[in-house]
Amino acid sequence: MSLEVSQQIMIEKTKNSKLDQVDFDHLPFGQVYTDHMFVCDYENGKWQQPKIIPYQNISLDPSAKIFHYGQSVFEGMKAYKDESNDIWLFRPVENQKRLNISAKRLAMPEIPAEYFMEGLKTLLLLEKDWIPTTKDSSLYIRPFMFASGNGFHASPSDNYKFIIACSPSGPYFGGQLKVLIEQKYSRSANGGVGFAKAGGNYAGQFYPTRLAIEKGYQQVIWTDDTTHENIEEAGAMNIFVRIEDTLITAPTSDRILDGITRKSIIDIARDQGIKVEVRNISVHEIVSAAVDGTLKEMFGAGTAAVISPVDAFGFQEKDYELPKLDESYAIQLKKRITDIQYNRSEDKFGWRYAVK
Ligand code: PLP
Ligand code: COI
Repeated sequence: MSLEVSQQIMIEKTKNSKLDQVDFDHLPFGQVYTDHMFVCDYENGKWQQPKIIPYQNISLDPSAKIFHYGQSVFEGMKAYKDESNDIWLFRPVENQKRLNISAKRLAMPEIPAEYFMEGLKTLLLLEKDWIPTTKDSSLYIRPFMFASGNGFHASPSDNYKFIIACSPSGPYFGGQLKVLIEQKYSRSANGGVGFAKAGGNYAGQFYPTRLAIEKGYQQVIWTDDTTHENIEEAGAMNIFVRIEDTLITAPTSDRILDGITRKSIIDIARDQGIKVEVRNISVHEIVSAAVDGTLKEMFGAGTAAVISPVDAFGFQEKDYELPKLDESYAIQLKKRITDIQYNRSEDKFGWRYAVK
């Protein structure tokens, strides 16, 4: 099956590579795009011939449903290059499955696994020179699907586009990370789309996040929409807190993205003997622990964020600093997960995926 798809992919190579214009020593996050993109259209009830074409603009009718009703889902992945120039992905099938979970919730068609995987592999092999080897850099991969069909009727589109675009990228966060625990606005609600990686989930966060940025924070930590007492996740990552020597993270639900980094960190931490609790964690518990000194760490976990230690959090007009630890769990866990991702260590969990 997979061979059939790769044989079908029509490839049109660019005549004007932009590769020599890129400063690989100073890569921003997600702002430089590679020469090609994978595109597959869904029309007449089925996925059409997949293509790899030069990276370019997309032309859509102003009535396209993506503009009005927001049917749009995406994924975030990374490709890593090791010292022998071999290319690796991290648990890509999890992303492929999650894209379809998101698509289903938004009444969009599912993309067959072989289209996703073969499209991705063929694109990465074509773009292999774009995968950075500079420290903390990787090729960020953005698979996404949106409603390309026309009409103002508020109903699911008939047509969709699935695209994979890539961006050689440096770290997502630069410098200090201060987060604000939010109790007024909500990111998601029971029965809603919070678990989906849907564009609208991010749009809804931008205004409260802008208010937080104006106060000097970089990210919002969302609390549950019913009581606003338990922390859930941040705008672009799942959240872990360490109280004494126990690592705690909120359980996934309708409202939280089931992060691939999150579940990998839970497994790695347990594997190295760290006690991990997956349970509700109240703001009250975090603030009390910050006050009595038992709150040792807080960090975000995500593909873009990797593991991002939180320096301070704000809650109800007050800031709480986190201690600076030399051998923090965040440092240890980041080393372990990135060593697997960049093929610098053994992969006892079988998460690494060779692209060849
Ligand atoms: N939560 C949100 C809202 C995200 O956008 C992300 C990023 O993808 C995550 C969590 C972390 O998920 P993953 O580790 O699969 O990248
Ligand atoms: C990712 O970590 O890949 C994400 O999709 C987060 C995004 C908001 C940059």
